[in-house]
Amino acid sequence: MKTKKSTPRAVAVWTVAVAFSATALVTLTAKALAQNVATAPAATPVAATNTAPVLASTMAHSCAACHGTNGQLGDESFAPLAGMPAGQFVKTMIDFREGRRPATLMGHVARGFSDEDLKGMGAFFAAQKGAQ
Ligand code: HEC
Repeated sequence: MKTKKSTPRAVAVWTVAVAFSATALVTLTAKALAQNVATAPAATPVAATNTAPVLASTMAHSCAACHGTNGQLGDESFAPLAGMPAGQFVKTMIDFREGRRPATLMGHVARGFSDEDLKGMGAFFAAQKGAQ
């Protein structure tokens, strides 16, 4: 007699869904915090110019749950982002965002980011070494 059990695939999809919800929250929080930093009166012009790189890396860390810390992965579950050329990254993300590239998850993720956000993250990931 067959009993209905969760298949490994169903469990994997569920796990990814939970990871995605958590990551979306982290992404929104990171962007909200970054915006507070951006709108707070800057003590010096130097502080203001330092905001962009910090913001890009903060946004990029929200991808770690699926793509590895700094986009570096030791296995093949997800495409590693570390070392991806910035132009390729930005195009891929815009294609996800506009629905030109099929995706289960990344369309939702990509909708959270402006072109400027993507350029910043693209530069961040391009500067990371690939997984060893
Ligand atoms: C919950 C898991 C998850 C999170 C979080 C996530 N991704 Fe993804 N990513 C995926 C999956 C799954 C794919 C494969 C396409 C699809 O089905 O959506 C993918 C594919 C990609 C690709 C295409 C890689 C290639 O060359 O095929 C890029 C680029 C990418 N993600 C960037 C990001 C960035 C940037 C973030 C953070 C802002 C992020 N992802 C967060 C799951 C995730």
